[in-house]
Amino acid sequence: MSKTIAIAGGTGFIGSYVAKFLLKDGYKVLISSRDPIKVSDRFKEFEVFRWDPTTEDFPIEVIQRADVLINLIGETISQRWTKEVRERLRSSRINSTRKIVEAFSKVNSSGKTFVSASAIGIYGNRKGEILTENSSFGDDFLSKLCIDWESEAMKAEEFGVRTVILRIGIVLGERGGFLAKLTPIFKLGLGGKIADGKMWMSWVHIEDLARVIKFAIEDRAVSGVYNVVSPNPVTNEEFTKSFAKVLNRPAFLPVPKFALKVLFGNELTEVALTSSQRVKPERLLELGFQFKYSDVETALKSLFSK
Ligand SMILES: NC(=O)c1ccc[n+]([C@@H]2O[C@H](COP(=O)([O-])OP(=O)(O)OC[C@H]3O[C@@H](n4cnc5c(N)ncnc54)[C@H](OP(=O)(O)O)[C@@H]3O)[C@@H](O)[C@H]2O)c1
Repeated sequence: MSKTIAIAGGTGFIGSYVAKFLLKDGYKVLISSRDPIKVSDRFKEFEVFRWDPTTEDFPIEVIQRADVLINLIGETISQRWTKEVRERLRSSRINSTRKIVEAFSKVNSSGKTFVSASAIGIYGNRKGEILTENSSFGDDFLSKLCIDWESEAMKAEEFGVRTVILRIGIVLGERGGFLAKLTPIFKLGLGGKIADGKMWMSWVHIEDLARVIKFAIEDRAVSGVYNVVSPNPVTNEEFTKSFAKVLNRPAFLPVPKFALKVLFGNELTEVALTSSQRVKPERLLELGFQFKYSDVETALKSLFSK
């Protein structure tokens, strides 16, 4: 009998891709939304269950049915970080994870699998230093958020749940995330490296991210923390050149940091947009996981060749 997978945050950029990927593979997939009626047309092929983590406990009947719970909830970081937004960035991740773990504690969870998102932002801004799962953490807002988010998720182990934490890099996909913001600017020929272009970008193709999640579900040897980034991070300058080439547009005007600060505010600019992380997927490579996309230009071409 095929496994039942519940995806918290299954309506998002990553969640909706992963849901379709696993459904095609023969899994039964349930997805959560705060507003199932609003999303019902887009997700007809799925069973959508209501869960608003700000006001409700995770539904017990879903945790009972699910062999695997994938947690991809999170208020978007791509907005100005006011005090209220910072609070929502934290609570949407940390409190929802806590509620999922509470649900595991209320049923017989032994043998279930929990795959929970985190981010490479945990390492902070590190210039060209090569970062593995054993590297130390940063101490900025995103680093602290990720530390607390991971520590809530790891508590699921106490209830016999195989727990896998994915420190996800910059996800390259057609329908959202980083590229959705960048593509219109590059298509107008206005793209350019950020400041001196030296910061490292650790990226992963969305199909490889979905393949890592499937690998984590199917191989019971997978447990603990994994960096989910391609084996070849690039500098912002290399990324900019490749993206402009794939879109067949020029990209010679560097975007100064002050312009980003005007558009996105100081904190998002410093902590996310201009921060450097050169991350290796050391533990996945040790397990023999093979990335389909390890060259950034090939990854971008696969998304924009149409
Ligand atoms: N995209 C990336 O490059 C990237 C990189 C590293 C880590 N991540 C992490 O991976 C997770 C998924 O990312 P994504 O890009 O797919 O995000 P997304 O498209 O913004 O989707 C996030 C999901 O979370 C739910 N959500 C949003 N705000 C919420 C709030 N305030 N309270 C409760 N639920 C809320 C939404 O579901 P409903 O509106 O249907 O309820 C949505 O389906 C996030 O935690 C993100 O931090 C993403």
